[in-house]
Amino acid sequence: MEFRNLLVERSERLTTITVNRPDKLNALNHETLEELSAAFAEAAADRETGVVILTGAGTRAFVAGADIGELSKLDVLGAREFARHGQVVLDRIEQCPKPVIGAINGFALGGGCELAMATHIRLASANARFGQPEVNLGVIPGFAGTQRLPRLIGKGRALHMILTGEPLKADEALQAGLVQAVLPTVEELLVAARGMARTILGKGPLAVRLALQAVQGGLEMPFAQGQQYEADVFALSFASADAREGLEAFLARRAPAWKGD
Ligand code: COA
Repeated sequence: MEFRNLLVERSERLTTITVNRPDKLNALNHETLEELSAAFAEAAADRETGVVILTGAGTRAFVAGADIGELSKLDVLGAREFARHGQVVLDRIEQCPKPVIGAINGFALGGGCELAMATHIRLASANARFGQPEVNLGVIPGFAGTQRLPRLIGKGRALHMILTGEPLKADEALQAGLVQAVLPTVEELLVAARGMARTILGKGPLAVRLALQAVQGGLEMPFAQGQQYEADVFALSFASADAREGLEAFLARRAPAWKGD
């Protein structure tokens, strides 16, 4: 599919999706959200793709938020629809059955911070800024920021960000656990994201998907139910040829040859 606001690049088993509106700091207008939804549906369905990287074009912004021009035109019902639409698209990203690495290369504000939080693992460049500045506009986060942020960094830190609108610098986001690593430049960020993708692509593909499924699914459940779910998914991994191969290869002191089933 052709996109007007995204670049989608496939290289071996890695798909990189880049939000590409650099003159608007990659702000998410309706069309871009629709395209993200379609691009992630494609990546999820594509048998070749094993890992997805999500980033923004240029060196200034990951995504500077929902498009404020579009926001300013919403009435009450339109605002509800707008929020539900964004939430559904971000859910689709979080529910992607392949690992999604967020490479946060600058401003991740409002809908951009919310988009970053929908990825599974986040890396940032030193110029990244994470914020929920909606209160500055007299509104509140609407793409699940009030829900994902406290779950990721705790209620106090989340409320500090949401109520003051003050952004976190990259090292503060690292300290808060919002990102897993900070790289000095955007170039180094992309190299690190690709390196992490290659590491994951070197593991048993089915095990990677099942591990992701166990974590994602389990987080929605009470702990005891999550453990039962883990045991079921663990058992399922033993139905795969790759589990036999991985265990036998270790015992035979050789590298495993994954088949992906
Ligand atoms: N929606 C629509 N357009 C946006 C945008 C957004 N969320 N964020 C930035 N832009 C546009 C600007 O309007 C400007 O477009 P123009 O050149 O056609 O006027 C362009 O991107 C560059 O932004 P600018 O504000 O000139 O850059 P800056 O370096 O002075 O400031 C920011 C950068 C990120 C601090 C500032 O753009 C900003 O505060 N953006 C809004 C962030 C926000 O509140 N997001 C949450 C929305 S819910």
